[in-house]
Amino acid sequence: MKHLLSVQDLGAEGVHEVMRLTDSFVEVSGRAIPRVPALRGKTVVSLFYEDSTRTRLSFETAAKRLSADTMTFSVSSSSVNKGESLRDTVETIEAMGIDAVVVRHKSSGVPWRIASWVNASVINAGDGWHQHPTQALLDCYTIRSRKGDLGGLRIAIVGDVMHSRVARSDVDAFAALGAEVLLVAPPTLLPASLEGWPVKITHSLDEVIGGLDVIYLLRIQRERMTEALLPSLREYRAVYGLTADRLRALRRDALVMHPGPMNRGVEIDAEAAEDERSVITAQVSNGVAVRMAVLYLLLGSGADLVAPPAGDQ
Ligand code: NCD
Repeated sequence: MKHLLSVQDLGAEGVHEVMRLTDSFVEVSGRAIPRVPALRGKTVVSLFYEDSTRTRLSFETAAKRLSADTMTFSVSSSSVNKGESLRDTVETIEAMGIDAVVVRHKSSGVPWRIASWVNASVINAGDGWHQHPTQALLDCYTIRSRKGDLGGLRIAIVGDVMHSRVARSDVDAFAALGAEVLLVAPPTLLPASLEGWPVKITHSLDEVIGGLDVIYLLRIQRERMTEALLPSLREYRAVYGLTADRLRALRRDALVMHPGPMNRGVEIDAEAAEDERSVITAQVSNGVAVRMAVLYLLLGSGADLVAPPAGDQ
């Protein structure tokens, strides 16, 4: 595989392969010196046209743990401000000799265009409302590490599905691994057409919450809303927020998930984020190992997967 642009590029078999590789990199990440030489000599560039905390740091940490060199391109301090086009920017970066580009952009489809212009591998780190495949992989890995397997699990994805690339990628990945996916949202926050989505839909969280294995809260994406889709955030929380009351209705063995960044007190209350069923921090840590697996899969030669670098313990 050369690029990772969407979950569909991987299919169920590919997702399983990333999960298996991730197990090895979780082990590496737990070592005193969490570094292996697998990608020595390779250069990974992060090209972020949209804000990010977790995803960018996670990819950079993953690349470093594999001994790759990293470059960060941040739009706010670049010649994009002088009007340089996406294509010229990408070709300039490629001319420096790189092996992979990790790209985030506010427009859907940009990673595909970049893949058609360059020889390097392209990894989609979020394009508009469209896809965010490594988020789905780390979500699958986190569920698998607590539940063993996703087959037959009831997973509800709650909230702003319309603007969410996380929801689109998660639906594809969870369904591919055999979970039953339920979208829970007001009609105004669902996409206009859900044709072909392997999901069930409900507008009532209270009706379903007691039967869930996983509740996945989405961030209300205020920056992507151009019209008033919600009466108010207070009202949203009252109907769809994971509040202390709803936490009591949730099964004792259920998992609480959120991709971050959280709007505490809107889609998730502080009690829920900190509840013992919350795996939100584990999602972030697993993100590094999952991205190591993805980089290794795209750039690794197959040799020295997890051997420590010479001289390390
Ligand atoms: C998400 C994103 O940017 O797609 N965050 C993330 O990558 N963990 C979700 C969001 O912004 O709501």
